[in-house]
Amino acid sequence: RNLKWQMECRSDINRLNAHFLSIYESLIPPEEEKAKQKQLLTLLEKLVCKEWPEARLFLYGSCANSFGVSKSDIDVCLAIGDADINKSEVLLKLADILQSDNLQNVQPLTRARVPIVKLMDPVTGISCDICINNLLAVVNTKLLRDYAGIDVRLRQLAFIVKHWAKSRGVNETYQGTLSSYAYVLMCIHFLQQRKPAILPCLQGMRATYSVTVDDKKCAFFDQVENLRDFGSRNRETIAQLVWGFFNYWAYGHDYTSSVISVRTGSVISKLEKDWTRRVGNDRHLICIEDPFETSHDLGRVVDKFSIKVLREEFERAADVMHYALNPCVKLFEPYVPSFD
Ligand code: CTP
Ligand code: MG
Repeated sequence: RNLKWQMECRSDINRLNAHFLSIYESLIPPEEEKAKQKQLLTLLEKLVCKEWPEARLFLYGSCANSFGVSKSDIDVCLAIGDADINKSEVLLKLADILQSDNLQNVQPLTRARVPIVKLMDPVTGISCDICINNLLAVVNTKLLRDYAGIDVRLRQLAFIVKHWAKSRGVNETYQGTLSSYAYVLMCIHFLQQRKPAILPCLQGMRATYSVTVDDKKCAFFDQVENLRDFGSRNRETIAQLVWGFFNYWAYGHDYTSSVISVRTGSVISKLEKDWTRRVGNDRHLICIEDPFETSHDLGRVVDKFSIKVLREEFERAADVMHYALNPCVKLFEPYVPSFD
């Protein structure tokens, strides 16, 4: 009987894994979409070069870090060598150029925290945000993409976590919850901490890639094709990792004194970062260190209300993974606010 029970459990786990993998696969953008993104980038390069022959365009964010799901907008960075330019002037000029080439919904947002021009390309149907000289974002995009090249379980876990966060309404920085970028860093950290580890700490290894951006040295090991076996001693499957991830954020993380740090591949103390009290509007109720801008806590948007929402959602997800009969359905049930 014991053996029969074990066999049944195993077939349940296999079914759950298969279900998670099919959700992951359904979220991967098809090749045609990637081709359309390239087509739009080529058009933008042509337009930009006429005005600024020395400038270059880079894709960043989810369209380039390999964590983008199907039908995402694209993020583009216009790199103009000159550091002294007036960003607002460049954005307004850029908006003019785009407008006169029949791109639609062109809007310069010069007062945003990261100033951008928004646009929609009627030919490909893709929407796009263009920012100026935000090269740190281009470099952290490469770091994330390189991590994704080491073990496919990172991409699987991050797709599931992002899909969960969007379904549950906890992927809204303006409402005090976390950005997609923060969730991907949380996934990388989690896989670095697994025993045996599934991901290494690329910034802790011999640097094979090194650039200095805004006076910050960004250096890490980027020959990830040599690390394909790194996680092979750990045989955990996606269902176990999803469960482990939510369990860690629900019951395993020390919110009072710990900071997660992909840069060091471990947890460091809030004391060491001097992130122990609120300064202005920055609170440190959940601490996620940016890998390059190390004074940046990606959790600084979280306030005393939204930390409660986040932690309740982590607990709900962990409990769903533990007890629900059909966790794959329950996990992604849309959050519906109640007004009583
Ligand atoms: N970024 C950053 N610092 C932040 C937030 C974002 O440097 N505090 C940069 C990162 O390069 C990130 C990009 O901006 O990859 C886009 O951020 P975000 O919209 O959070 O992530 P996406 O990966 O584009 O996710 P989504 O699919 O939800 O658009
Ligand atoms: Mg994005």
